[in-house]
Amino acid sequence: GTVFDTVLRPAIVAASRSERVKVASERWPVTERVVRRFVPGESLAEAMAAVGAELADGLAVTVDFLGEDTLDESQADATVSAYLALLESLSTARSTPDGSVEVSMKLTALGLGLPEHGAKIAEENARTIVEAADGLGVLVTVDAENHTTVDRRLAIVRSLRDDFPDTGTVLQACLRRTEDDCAEFAASGARIRLCKGAYAEPAAVAFTERRQVDDNYLRCLRTLMRGRGYPMVATHDPTMIDAATILADEFGRAPGTWEHQMLYGIRVDEQRRLAAAGARVRVYIPYGEQWYGYLVRRLAERPANLGFFLRALAG
Ligand code: FDA
Repeated sequence: GTVFDTVLRPAIVAASRSERVKVASERWPVTERVVRRFVPGESLAEAMAAVGAELADGLAVTVDFLGEDTLDESQADATVSAYLALLESLSTARSTPDGSVEVSMKLTALGLGLPEHGAKIAEENARTIVEAADGLGVLVTVDAENHTTVDRRLAIVRSLRDDFPDTGTVLQACLRRTEDDCAEFAASGARIRLCKGAYAEPAAVAFTERRQVDDNYLRCLRTLMRGRGYPMVATHDPTMIDAATILADEFGRAPGTWEHQMLYGIRVDEQRRLAAAGARVRVYIPYGEQWYGYLVRRLAERPANLGFFLRALAG
């Protein structure tokens, strides 16, 4: 890989785990400008303003209340409450449910990592949110975190899908297991968001070369497009975006039976270009006070984003 992949990215991800670095960066007022490029705000009102703007432009949205890795049960409860308030707001953004509003959530924000009964608590919390969303006509997709959480997450998603089959989840092309997971979920008709993966993973479980990840992304995408489910093609990579359109044609998929997805603030023109060309495009909008981990992953995955960060620090 490049120097960025082998040296810088691991350093950034390692630094993100340091409490000292986190506190220092929270004190830099200049960070605000960098954060705002990727996160529209810390409040629900700011998130809803961003939602309104995307919907007005003909894009669909998925909204993430930022948070992860909680080891505190009351924090997990607070996350559930935040999602319930978010769902109420989202349900009023559209007069009739048309699939254009969705929430994304992380199971470690709902208690998956709690030392006792973490999986049970996370599932109960997730079920509370999924049930409320179902009643309000809002979709739910469960985000993918690091590889140690995949088995527990997929078990919870299978269980939620027994009652709420529209519950989606994310699969990461960087993981060696993902082709098999795609086959399983494509066969069961699931909504699957395919991304490359944003976590630094060991070679035992993950592809480490960019090229290998891209090849696996294409294999997984083919499996999803050929399958019975609803593929959500989450990438900013022009090669993957073109491949999605070609594969959708190959398997006779009409518009509306799959979609493109991109992150808030990234390739905004391309998001609108695809929508104008008749494709369904959904924007992932994160909000909340706990933006630190999210921001670090955005900076780590792309040298140009890091440059933006460094320029903002200098300016
Ligand atoms: P990648 O970063 O490999 O870039 C490939 C090419 O895309 C670049 O060479 C460039 O051409 C173009 N490009 C990328 N960024 C650009 C920019 N800012 N401006 C212009 N061109 C740009 N990860 C995870 O582990 N768990 C999850 O749950 C999710 N969820 C998720 C949801 C959604 C909707 C998206 C879009 C992504 C995620 N991710 C994620 C993140 C994902 O795993 C990945 O880290 C990023 O999307 C970056 O990978 P890309 O596929 O975008 O391309």
